[in-house]
Amino acid sequence: MRIPLVAANWKMNGNKAFAERFFSDFDLQAIAAQVVVCPPFPYIPLVAQVAENKERLSVGAQNLSQESSGAYTGEVSAEMLLDWNVRYVIVGHSERRSLYGETSELVARKFVAAQKAGLIPILCVGETLQEREQGRTLEVVASQLKAVGDITESDAWEGSVVAYEPVWAIGTGKTATPEEAQDVHQFIRGELGDVGNKVQILYGGSVKSANADALFAQADIDGALVGGASLDANEFAAICRAVG
Ligand code: PGA
Repeated sequence: MRIPLVAANWKMNGNKAFAERFFSDFDLQAIAAQVVVCPPFPYIPLVAQVAENKERLSVGAQNLSQESSGAYTGEVSAEMLLDWNVRYVIVGHSERRSLYGETSELVARKFVAAQKAGLIPILCVGETLQEREQGRTLEVVASQLKAVGDITESDAWEGSVVAYEPVWAIGTGKTATPEEAQDVHQFIRGELGDVGNKVQILYGGSVKSANADALFAQADIDGALVGGASLDANEFAAICRAVG
């Protein structure tokens, strides 16, 4: 049985007052899913404090360094995140890949750094619109997964989360249809090998309360990674409730 998981990716949005207001509005009651909130780094302690002693709420980070310490100005290590009770960390978000030049090989090293320290990586994979139109979706996703598979043991997927986020659906208001998403999720599960059935695979890309039910009804969609809609506490809670 895979526990449903819904993660909020606030990206570089909000401020201290926003974070405080979010949690005064966010109602964990009636939410059965595991909820992860990934704020910008400076607000991690604030979210961690709210999450303390709440079994179903965890704090996540949006990125980490592949290195453990040293002269890497501006970087944050897995150990530093653990100091603040961070449990999850997003690696390979498409914005990191496209805006900051993160290659699949670098993302794989970040995945390993996170896992080695005891964090749960949320590995984002997904194709661009052009790649989809060229019929290359599965090939692209497979190669993004393979980069991790190449430098980890076959059971490393256990204790990780995968998020399928078609790039063309992120922040655009366009969502993959539930069937399109399910096809890719099923493919990903197969690529994860023997432990595939234990891995939570999230869908990301313009998830809202209005489309959440249909997405979550699919057999291989175990939750969501939510960007824009996670900035509204009530809307985000509604998405969390939809997953059961
Ligand atoms: P979106 O972002 O929900 O705003 O499309 C999802 C993501 O980037 O993780």
